[in-house]
Amino acid sequence: MSGGYEKCYRRWEDDPEAFWEEAAQHLHWYRKPTRIFDADAAVYGRWFAGGETNTCYNCIDRHVEAGRGDELAIVHDSPLGHGKQRFTYRETLTEVMAMAAVLIDHGIEKGDRVIIYMPMIPQAVFAMLACARIGAVHSVVFGGFAAHELATRIDDCQARAIIGASCGLEPGRIVPYKPLIDHAIDLADTKPAYSFILQREQMPATLNATFGDVDLGAALDQQRAQATIVDCVPVAATDPLYILYTSGTTGQPKGVVRDNGGHMVALTWSMQAIYGIRPGELFWAASDIGWVVGHSYIVYAPLLAGSATLIFEGKPVGTPNAGTFWRVIAEHGVKALFTAPTAFRAIRKEDPNGDHVGEHDISSLQALFLAGERADPETIRWAETHLNVPVIDHWWQTETGWAIAANPLGLGLLPQKYGSPTVPMPGYRLAILDDAGHPVAPGTLGNIVIRLPLPPGCLTTFWNADQRFRQACLDEFPGYYKTADAGIIDEDGYVHVMARTDDIINCAGHRLSTGAMEEVCAMHPDVAECAVIGIADPIKGQIPCSFLVLKNRVDRDFGDIRREIMQLVRDEIGAVAALKTVVEVQRLPKTRSGKILRGTMQKIADGLPWTMPATIDDPAILTEITDLLAAHGISPSGKSVAGF
Ligand code: COA
Ligand code: AMP
Repeated sequence: MSGGYEKCYRRWEDDPEAFWEEAAQHLHWYRKPTRIFDADAAVYGRWFAGGETNTCYNCIDRHVEAGRGDELAIVHDSPLGHGKQRFTYRETLTEVMAMAAVLIDHGIEKGDRVIIYMPMIPQAVFAMLACARIGAVHSVVFGGFAAHELATRIDDCQARAIIGASCGLEPGRIVPYKPLIDHAIDLADTKPAYSFILQREQMPATLNATFGDVDLGAALDQQRAQATIVDCVPVAATDPLYILYTSGTTGQPKGVVRDNGGHMVALTWSMQAIYGIRPGELFWAASDIGWVVGHSYIVYAPLLAGSATLIFEGKPVGTPNAGTFWRVIAEHGVKALFTAPTAFRAIRKEDPNGDHVGEHDISSLQALFLAGERADPETIRWAETHLNVPVIDHWWQTETGWAIAANPLGLGLLPQKYGSPTVPMPGYRLAILDDAGHPVAPGTLGNIVIRLPLPPGCLTTFWNADQRFRQACLDEFPGYYKTADAGIIDEDGYVHVMARTDDIINCAGHRLSTGAMEEVCAMHPDVAECAVIGIADPIKGQIPCSFLVLKNRVDRDFGDIRREIMQLVRDEIGAVAALKTVVEVQRLPKTRSGKILRGTMQKIADGLPWTMPATIDDPAILTEITDLLAAHGISPSGKSVAGF
């Protein structure tokens, strides 16, 4: 890994297949790939074709067999549940085998889809690994999503079973998961045969065996007592390991499919080259297993690399205070922390002078990694000042599964530019194209695209929807994958990610579709038309704001309608959507062809310079919107900078 970033990137550029073949050698294969990259396979080619492997074997068994069974694999720290647990690799293997045995006992087989809807507890990780062990395809659904979202996913992947828990824990409240699971099954057309429910003492659920409910804790106890051995099932490197649904431009989420072989190779490489983590060291991704960061860097990458991972059931603030992160780092000896900038903004708000940091010995910490949204320079500087370690912004998305651009600690850090996630990683050849698909000059804003093929570890397609994948990601710029992010590459080759080009917003590090929220708002009987945009928020980055045009003759208190809309979005999408700003407007600004001018509305709301669109139907509406936003205290200083 020596020689620095430039050398490594050049080595990849010179011979990508040789580069990834070498990276693959550190892993276990039942059968070596016959082709490192099969360019003929759908949709854009496949990595490690012909190979056979098992991701769980590489995460757990391989290390136990290498004599590292007594080393630490998983730490669970739950300020919300008041508990802490540690598992060695050998103990993890026992737990994963017990979970796999339960699944097999109930007829779950290779290729079956299993939904995991669990809070941040070790059993969630055991469940993911157990699926991988038997070749079942897991799909983890974030606990903050409501029953309807869960139902959509059950139907899309035709889940055979759900692994859940009786409840999740949020500050100040217990979230009953079981009724959500039951409701989702009622809503879905596909009826999973089993719901395996782990009873948590904070709120046990009523289980009904006739409807397929299984007491997961009891079933695990039984398998552990019998010391059931469950061998890993060899799967094709190109077989799906998991499906992770993410927000698209409609209410129908996209099922990002990750394979076994490419995923293992890319994540293992990244652990050392990007994060600088070695076997035996403790890595902490303070995210949730329901998001891609959780999949890649709470579960798979640390274990593939033979390091240890920390599962945290708490929040950066309020559990119990803004010093929690530092307490966890000190207590467990965390080497690297990975979280979203929003978490640091929340901490800084509570503890502006970083007083809590001084209360703990955080000398084990080597670096802080930030992703999920643009890392604003102020947040980076605050973290640098108080933690006294490199703060590394890196850019990626659910679809890629690992960093597109980063400052690779393991290869040797490059000079930092605040506001830039630094440079493309080996595997990614980036270009900036204008809307017509032409490359732009360095420093010019445009669409950030990745030259095909995507590297190992990136999505192979959308679940059962190759054509949707092509349309959404590949068709607009032939030969490239469209990231749907806009940005620039400067004269030094540094990437700057500025904004999404679609209707995705980033709220507290969570990826949300404003299109999906519009669909829900439109369900309200009094709503004639609506537009949802993301507006700037000092802590969460962005928050959704809904503009409603009510139907004629609606004569109700708007306060009531606002509350109903907020509840509807909470019920249909989930608490995580956090729609709290709902504004009534008489009309929405549109182009003459009827397209709502969401981009302009957003600029007004954020107080950014904006241009009156030449195609606007009625310019006066934007003035009305500006006044309205100002009246709601939303617009700081929006002003039009140009005429027609
Ligand atoms: N299960 C059930 N409900 C959940 C949930 C879960 N797993 N996660 C969040 N929610 C609920 C919250 O309780 C909250 O509900 P409320 O409106 O009744 O209070 C709502 O969803 C919004 O939650 P959140 O977005 O987390 O906002 P917050 O104000 O509770 O906390 C932060 C704000 C910034 C502290 C928090 O979002 C955070 O730590 N973000 C970092 C996120 C992250 O790491 N993202 C992954 C990318 S690396
Ligand atoms: P998700 O799929 O939830 O990981 O969200 C991916 C999106 O978050 C990206 O397409 C970007 O819009 C945004 N994002 C993630 N990391 C960064 C970053 N470091 N800088 C800027 N935007 C980011």
